[in-house]
Amino acid sequence: MNQLSVKHLLGIKDLTENDIRLIFESADNFKRIINRPLKKVPSLRDFTVANLFFENSTRTRISFELAEKRLSADIINFSSSSSSVTKGETLIDTVKNILSMKVDMVVMRHPSPGACQFLSRHIDAKILNAGDGTHEHPTQALLDAFSIREKLGDVGGKKVVIVGDILHSRVALSNIFCLQKLGAEVMVCGPTTLIPRHIKELGVKVEHNLRKALEWCDVANMLRIQLERQDIRYFPSLREYTQQYGLNMEMLNSLSKEIIIMHPGPINRGVEITSEVADSSNSIILDQVENGVAIRMACLFLLAGVK
Ligand code: CP
Repeated sequence: MNQLSVKHLLGIKDLTENDIRLIFESADNFKRIINRPLKKVPSLRDFTVANLFFENSTRTRISFELAEKRLSADIINFSSSSSSVTKGETLIDTVKNILSMKVDMVVMRHPSPGACQFLSRHIDAKILNAGDGTHEHPTQALLDAFSIREKLGDVGGKKVVIVGDILHSRVALSNIFCLQKLGAEVMVCGPTTLIPRHIKELGVKVEHNLRKALEWCDVANMLRIQLERQDIRYFPSLREYTQQYGLNMEMLNSLSKEIIIMHPGPINRGVEITSEVADSSNSIILDQVENGVAIRMACLFLLAGVK
């Protein structure tokens, strides 16, 4: 099959293993293209894409915009803080008004889990979820798995630990679905209060000791503490969190084998990861960012082809 099984990219949960492999093959081609002197292709000429960001973003917003430009799409950028949302306009009214200007695809980030699913029931345009609250961040998981494949040759059979604030993380959930569909083993590690109570039902291992988790894994994906989503105190202080779950060079060098370090960004240097680790040769953090453009080009291109 050379077509995706879905009309929208709402979450990794909806994708088949074949969809993910198709996206990777397409991203391989686009990565070659964006490393040429001539980086643009006409694949989405005459397509209009609206980037609707109801929540802050640096990497995802810029990466989607660059991916769209490399594909020659026309682009509309919308940020809720400078829009009529501040005057009380609803999500559906906002999007329907934008779509009446003949938009083909919508890339949306929204603080509410399920916002993209909700929208997909009300509009005809293709929707790509750029992160919906604590639910899913599918393109992040795809670029993460693509980066592991690039570094280790395959994702299948690899052991990946996701460390930190699993409870509030859309990156964690999308990564769990994506890695498992590709045959990896997944562990989550963090304080009890930041691990969802029923997460084992997803088939992941749970470990509360960082050293044990790192000794087990081939890849450690270090997550940020999402203070903006925390309504209560989940641990005594950031200092204590760092003492137990922060990754430093001393810990990394003391492991019995080399592991790969990932982080979706934004990094809180000195909290979940030290600068030395983030900038070390073990880290593929900037490869993840680079791969994000190729992955998003692949997702946009393949979804545009779905009837
Ligand atoms: N990884 C990620 O989603 O980063 P942004 O919030 O900067 O887009």
